[in-house]
Amino acid sequence: MKKIAVLTSGGDSPGMNAAIRAVVRTGIYYGMDIVGIRRGYLGLINEDIVPMSLGSVADIIQRGGTILYTARCEQFKTPEGQKQGYDVLKKNQIEGLVVIGGDGSFRGAQILSHMGIPTIGIPGTIDNDIPCCDTTLGFDTAVNTAIEAIDKIRDTATSHDRTYVVEVMGRHAGDIALHVGLADGAESILIAEKTFDMDEVISRLERGVARGKKHSIIIVAEGAGSGVEIGKYLMDHTGFEVRVTVLGHIQRGGAPSARDRVLASQLGHQAVTLLQSGVAGKMVATQGGRIHAVDFDTVFTTPREPDMSLYDIAEILSI
Ligand code: ADP
Ligand code: F6P
Repeated sequence: MKKIAVLTSGGDSPGMNAAIRAVVRTGIYYGMDIVGIRRGYLGLINEDIVPMSLGSVADIIQRGGTILYTARCEQFKTPEGQKQGYDVLKKNQIEGLVVIGGDGSFRGAQILSHMGIPTIGIPGTIDNDIPCCDTTLGFDTAVNTAIEAIDKIRDTATSHDRTYVVEVMGRHAGDIALHVGLADGAESILIAEKTFDMDEVISRLERGVARGKKHSIIIVAEGAGSGVEIGKYLMDHTGFEVRVTVLGHIQRGGAPSARDRVLASQLGHQAVTLLQSGVAGKMVATQGGRIHAVDFDTVFTTPREPDMSLYDIAEILSI
């Protein structure tokens, strides 16, 4: 393989830059030409392609976001859009593609693979919602960002004897909420994967106050409902002073954690190594701490849920 491309697609996540760097430098190490496609599949269709040198990825391992930019592109979901993308790849003699993104992005990658352009996917999303994968790129950083913010909220919550409802990201997955809730000693963690009873949430709050707690934190996953509405419900049904914080996109930015930088470097390196040895149509990830490659089809058909043992532990520890 003489020339490969790399793109980032869907929501950005901390560590994408470190993965781009690993792809570019591994490719150059193997003697390949590397190009970057800007703004995901949109840039592919628009032929927004830039050469990537060793220097082009200098000083980015520590930077959040993605130097290649990212986008969502409805046009690429159509056969016409996919044909346009394929033609651009052929025209530019691009023989392989690394796609850094979530499962939607992998669907696009699989289609290109079926059309004859070998692709490898790297799971990049803060949500951690991809099967066959210990953690997605950016998840660790997002959890740490949320924890740092909530530690600050805790200070003011204690000063004012307040209850805080904190809504964290996770459109279809409660992973961020679970990890943050456990790491922050939350009274309750509300996630879509587990039905919750507001009466129980309230009695946990009341038990905490009865034993002298100065503050209470309730973590709500975005996919489980609106933090604002849950906060209003608690205000209306208790005598507590409740405030709501929606952490939002702050969780998507910032310098990647050490763990995400290491993961990005491992996966970027492995993605190019696989392409170079003729493997395609797969996602690279770690599972049980080991790097593996798994067919996109398996990724799309394997059910997944967060590690619910964390939920059980959090319930016991916040008794
Ligand atoms: P993520 O990759 O984070 O799951 P999206 O689901 O928004 O994010 O997908 C990112 C992009 O991947 C979409 O905007 C689109 O360009 C492409 N994509 C998503 N689903 C498909 C599909 N079924 N077929 C082709 N391309 C797709
Ligand atoms: O998939 C990552 C994610 O941050 C989700 O947690 C969130 O629901 C969504 O993206 C937000 O997307 P947007 O950037 O379009 O607001």
